[in-house]
Amino acid sequence: MRSLLGDHLLQRLQQDAEGTLHQRLFRCLRSAIVEGVLQPKTRLPASRDLAGEIHVSRNTVLTAYEQLQAEGYVEARTGHGTWVAEKLPEAFLNSQKKKAQPHLQPPRRDYTLSHRGASLMGYAAASPHQWGAFVPGAPDVTEFPHHIFSRIQSRLSREPDINRLIYSNAGGCVELRSALADYLRVARSVQCDVDQIIITEGIHQGIDLVSRALSDIGDHVWIEDPAYWGMRNTLRINGLHLRPMPVDIEGIIPEDNPKQAPKLIFVTPSHQYPLGSHLSLARRKQLLNIARQHGSWIIEDDYDSEFRFSGQPYPSLQGLEPEAPVIYMGTFSKTIYPALRIGYLVVPKPLFSPLRIVAAELYRGGHLLVQKALAEFIREGHYEAHIRRMRLLYGKRRSFLIDLIYRYLGKDFLHEYDEASGLHLVMKLPTYCDDVAIATKALERGVKVRPLSQYYMHSHARAQRGLLMGFACVDEKDMVMAFGVLLQCLREAGVPTLN
Ligand SMILES: Cc1ncc(COP(=O)(O)O)c(C=O)c1O
Repeated sequence: MRSLLGDHLLQRLQQDAEGTLHQRLFRCLRSAIVEGVLQPKTRLPASRDLAGEIHVSRNTVLTAYEQLQAEGYVEARTGHGTWVAEKLPEAFLNSQKKKAQPHLQPPRRDYTLSHRGASLMGYAAASPHQWGAFVPGAPDVTEFPHHIFSRIQSRLSREPDINRLIYSNAGGCVELRSALADYLRVARSVQCDVDQIIITEGIHQGIDLVSRALSDIGDHVWIEDPAYWGMRNTLRINGLHLRPMPVDIEGIIPEDNPKQAPKLIFVTPSHQYPLGSHLSLARRKQLLNIARQHGSWIIEDDYDSEFRFSGQPYPSLQGLEPEAPVIYMGTFSKTIYPALRIGYLVVPKPLFSPLRIVAAELYRGGHLLVQKALAEFIREGHYEAHIRRMRLLYGKRRSFLIDLIYRYLGKDFLHEYDEASGLHLVMKLPTYCDDVAIATKALERGVKVRPLSQYYMHSHARAQRGLLMGFACVDEKDMVMAFGVLLQCLREAGVPTLN
């Protein structure tokens, strides 16, 4: 078997065709020494072994070694072998150069980001540790049946299937796509088949994919205002022109006769993020008409609709009409755990192949073993059982938090658009409050809430004041402690409390 050095030399010898063989070998060895491939004090292979590995005569190797020794790159002791010299001739040359030019400064490296990179940094808002009271949108990851999921994964890893270990451009694991098609048809009234589903690494990647594949730099895109800042940032870095549309209790208020047609319309119809309303039937129809009229795509972000604590879940917008101009996005971040990084798109059939090819070109895709394990987890009924259990748990935690708000602040402090769903609620604050300052104070004392005003595109006068509070990953005991701290911050900010 050839050594790594043998492979390296053979490749280099092919690139250096000038002169005799021993001169070429000398140059290749010298470069390997100078570039650090062969470190100082490394023992070179015996001349006979190296000659055998790279198919040259022993004399060629001996001549190259002798020249290296003569020039000071290696040291040799008869009968003991040949070593790379501790100090290379280049070191002497460099130190002399340094002495001759003592004031020569290396050129300055510029570490500034591109305009769009720097602009994204300015908008970056992800918290460093997304866990604990009251991080919005964080599920209780400790409650997931990890033992069941890992049992499926270990069995699959013991039966390695080539198809799960190579690059794929199929839009993700077919078994997962098929399990999702069945689930989404029943649970979310999505009209779909397996050949409409593309697995992504979460909704974030879905937003990136559809915005790159279906719109061009400078195109107009409608977004809800307020909305999820993560979505805004992805659209910004892709060079889109964002048009914020206000939101009321019926959801987004679209502009009926826009001067500039939107290429994409991003909405959260089942649970408006962050305020909590659902898109009314009249608005759904209005939006579909606008999209049809202007050739726009509606991008439906269905991030947490599995968690509705009273009444029936609202069906998806995608399923409202046949051939609706809608791309549906879902995620396992809220139902399983965020670090799983698995989400999905449901796209119209003619878009399936182009989008899966763009996805493969941009992200390559992978994690097929985990995707297959997830498909089995769903097929065996564990997924729905877990969602049912979490719905009960989160429902109890949510009621507990609402009781605290009612008891210590009053009913007006729960946002009026709240519809008993999702993993967070919005505590509404009087308009004179600086919600950013309150959230900062609370964070200094270990309580994580997010200021509502920051979810607006421009922190303009219309921005409502409030705090987003996640309740799913906090048990009642921790909730009481954290709420006490928050109450103190609110009192210090001049908010009237009841107790
Ligand atoms: C409205 C909304 N959409 C999408 C996401 C992100 O989903 P994913 O983790 O699948 O990228 C979030 C995350 O909190 C969200 O709040």
